[in-house]
Amino acid sequence: MSTVTPYGAADKHEAVQTMFGRIAGRYDLMNRLMTGGLDGAWRRTTVAAAALPPGGDALDVGTGTGDLAIEWARSDPTARVVGIDYTGPMLALAPAKADRAQLAERTTFARADGHRLPFADASFDAVASAFVLRNFSDLVAAYAEMARVVRPGGRVVALEICPPRSAFWRLAFGLYFNRVVPIIGRLVSGDGGAYRYLPASAAAFPTPDGIAGIMRAAGLTPLPARVLMAGALAVHVGTKSGG
Ligand SMILES: C[S@@+](CC[C@H](N)C(=O)[O-])C[C@H]1O[C@@H](n2cnc3c(N)ncnc32)[C@H](O)[C@@H]1O
Repeated sequence: MSTVTPYGAADKHEAVQTMFGRIAGRYDLMNRLMTGGLDGAWRRTTVAAAALPPGGDALDVGTGTGDLAIEWARSDPTARVVGIDYTGPMLALAPAKADRAQLAERTTFARADGHRLPFADASFDAVASAFVLRNFSDLVAAYAEMARVVRPGGRVVALEICPPRSAFWRLAFGLYFNRVVPIIGRLVSGDGGAYRYLPASAAAFPTPDGIAGIMRAAGLTPLPARVLMAGALAVHVGTKSGG
């Protein structure tokens, strides 16, 4: 399991929170620049993979500035979406964005730790996250929590960077992530450390097979991961039995 931490800090949980607190104001702009604006489409793919039933309750874990929660509420006009995050300055930006998108009535944002979700068992019809798994200090515990709060028959879905299988794409994405992204990150966010952590944490992250094993341990049945961007991204999907 990854022990890569921002700024080489000893405590990953605290360092990740500090890092997102520092870059919150430039986080959305950095996402658009780094992905060429494709990140919205990837979030829509993630939301579709969650297969929320009509009128369902959805949870976005590590919502950050709210983009996945907002995309979920926008693409499903019957969904009620809760977004949680433990970094105050990221979360503080989400309600105004939901308001501007005229989705405030069906989106709620709260400060909480993904390792200890403040919800009863089986509270949600689907749980999703985008670019959060790499950041957990205890991925096994976080998956156990997501599996606990989803209803039987519901899905736990996660969009995350992963190492491409092809040597060519590993090299191409490696060059982009390791050489280009830290420079854009330093210039735009003023925090080169945050955007050196991104490629380092991605390189150390488990493959889809590794994530499938963690899902099984959490009591979820993994479905085949959907790979995007020549295998540089994966949408991991697990279902909770019953329902
Ligand atoms: C890369 S951002 C992703 C934000 C958003 N999901 C998106 O698609 O843009 C990762 C987010 O995960 C949050 N996060 C990391 N560990 C967390 C934890 N243990 N509990 C809650 N949020 C966490 C961070 O605060 C940060 O806002």
